[in-house]
Amino acid sequence: MFKIGVLVSGGGTNLQSIIDRIEDGTIEADIVTVVSNNKNAFALERAKKHGIQALCINKHQFMNADEYEDALIRHLKAANVDLVVFAGFLVILSERFISAFEGKIINIHPSLIPSFCGKGFYGLKVHEEALKKGVKVTGATVHFVVAEADAGPIIAQKAVDVLEGDTPETLQKRVMLQAEHVILPEAIDYIIKNQSKLQEVLS
Ligand code: GRF
Repeated sequence: MFKIGVLVSGGGTNLQSIIDRIEDGTIEADIVTVVSNNKNAFALERAKKHGIQALCINKHQFMNADEYEDALIRHLKAANVDLVVFAGFLVILSERFISAFEGKIINIHPSLIPSFCGKGFYGLKVHEEALKKGVKVTGATVHFVVAEADAGPIIAQKAVDVLEGDTPETLQKRVMLQAEHVILPEAIDYIIKNQSKLQEVLS
């Protein structure tokens, strides 16, 4: 069975969308581990509720960032994951981590990359900037993770209208519900069904 490791930092609604699609049979995969850098992340509760291994690994448990990343790499390698999913994971990891999973890491970003992405663009900030710019359409992107933030090959995108009177909060909620929670499971399903083709593209 295709094994997924999910890294989270917050509420876990994107994790929940993957759990739901696996449980309704849309995605043929197992989430074998959920890891958060934040011990209070509600995403960990969501995982436990569905009988999925959920643990906190964060840099304060280690002497330095390298040891933290080594622990993360060891844990995911031991779980024998076929795919690492950053689902609202807010820690920037080094090229060493990324090359340890050569092209098998994806991320969900709450904008239509290349707009509103890169260093400092995460969470509500993305939607604040979209509203400040006055864009009429925004959305979400699933992409492969490379060393540069939010810069890897795009796998899926979905557009969402910006509505009159939107606040960053109302826009974030709509983008999550109408875009993120749709394209992240779809992207995972696409990867599972196109592994050999993707191997060529990504190698
Ligand atoms: C989502 O908006 C995601 O795009 C961004 O962080 C948020 C995480 O939400 N990276 P959740 O933890 O999946 O609910």
